[in-house]
Amino acid sequence: MKTSYDVLIIGTGIAGLSTALALPRSLSVLIVSKDYAWECNTFYAQGGVAVAKDTADIPLHVKDTLGAGAGHCDPEAVNVLCSEGPIAIKRLINMGFHFDKDEDGNLLYTKEAAHSTNRILHAGGDATGRYIHLFLMQQLPFPILYNTQVTDLLIDEGVCYGARVFHADKIFNLYAKKVIIASGGVGSLYEYHTNARTISADMQGICLSHGIALADMEMMQFHPTAFVLGNSVRKQLLSESLRGEGAMVVDEDGRRFVFDYDPRGELAPRDVVSRAIFRYKQKTGKEVYLDLSAFTKEHFAQRFPSIYFNMTNIGYNVPEQRIPISPAFHYSMGGIKTDLRGNVLHVKDLYAVGECANTGVHGANRLASNSLLEGLVFSARVAEEIKQSIFEPKVQRTFSEVEEVLIHENDKVLKNELRHLMWYYAGILREPKNLEKAKKRVEEMLALSIGKLLRLRLLVSLEIITSALNRKESLGAHYLQQGNDLCES
Ligand code: SIN
Repeated sequence: MKTSYDVLIIGTGIAGLSTALALPRSLSVLIVSKDYAWECNTFYAQGGVAVAKDTADIPLHVKDTLGAGAGHCDPEAVNVLCSEGPIAIKRLINMGFHFDKDEDGNLLYTKEAAHSTNRILHAGGDATGRYIHLFLMQQLPFPILYNTQVTDLLIDEGVCYGARVFHADKIFNLYAKKVIIASGGVGSLYEYHTNARTISADMQGICLSHGIALADMEMMQFHPTAFVLGNSVRKQLLSESLRGEGAMVVDEDGRRFVFDYDPRGELAPRDVVSRAIFRYKQKTGKEVYLDLSAFTKEHFAQRFPSIYFNMTNIGYNVPEQRIPISPAFHYSMGGIKTDLRGNVLHVKDLYAVGECANTGVHGANRLASNSLLEGLVFSARVAEEIKQSIFEPKVQRTFSEVEEVLIHENDKVLKNELRHLMWYYAGILREPKNLEKAKKRVEEMLALSIGKLLRLRLLVSLEIITSALNRKESLGAHYLQQGNDLCES
């Protein structure tokens, strides 16, 4: 098998695939996928893609993004996202992608929490991510190496030369002039999450082990409405757009208690609604539900076919029957620090894009449906950056192929303990004393005889905990428990 390429892309979500599609076909490009290509967060994205509807909406999209980000966004990054968003969407449509339209052929826009207007495009009703993923895969001119675990980056003296991988029972090096990390977030660090099962922070951990900076790692987003009962690790997401179109969060008595916490009720930013549900459950011990009575059966099945199918399959008679919900980990605003062209700081020829990256675009809390847009906008920028420098001469280097043990026999138990610890101590509500406990335990685990993959998870968990300890005031998704106060502000 060929082991040297122009470009190596790690990850097959919207960020990785869109970058690949924006590169010249004359380049030799290899994409590696940890599992099947569809085991990525893009595939499970329901709500849609947020985009300014016209020029006048761009400043409003900027304002909503900055507002949800709680003053912690990089305004320049937000400007890039919102002003280049319409161009990225047009490019996708011109390639042949179909968003949902009304009978007259006009694009349909829905609303989600913290957006001041309807600006979310969707496809296949609530299957936006799946439709986009399939479409991008169909266009792809480059090969994918499946079932490939990246175990290290080949970095020497501030230059990246490729990655070490485990594939088909062998460890070997893949060399490339340019390496793009597009591997997604950190979902599997948490007990309850909505992410694909492959999303376990490996690349963030590898970056840490090379001294590469991660930023905003205390900023972890919890989605307010997930169906968390059942045994699957990935929890069933119940899209924001349900609430945008009339679904209500209620307690056992049918009371819309989110208004006790914020006057915007169910349409307050995601972090606010998540905390309201979590705290209300803690305080009252009551069950919380998503009430879908605003929908007729026919409309619900047509507008939200995936949720209808999934919930019906589990035995819920939707929309008549309300669904028990809980917040679940959903998205990492923190990530590998990059500039606005995807360059990883202080390492030449290494790029990061999508959820794994931190450009500062999401600040302390991502605005709903801005992530697929981020993948489209910033992948085009990374591809442009690579096109401009790919023909510069680069000295080839070889690296050893020796690797430490990836998985140790006790890792599974420790991995589950870590997920529990992160959910309760570094989750929706944080207390310094609990964060300290978590830190101590993670440090103990790091001193044990463990496999490399668990070590990477632990390194990233420690970074989340330490960042949370270092931020002394609540901000956006980072919330320090303040006694039993009901109100947010
Ligand atoms: C959703 O459909 O609620 C998820 C959208 C997102 O994560 O932005």
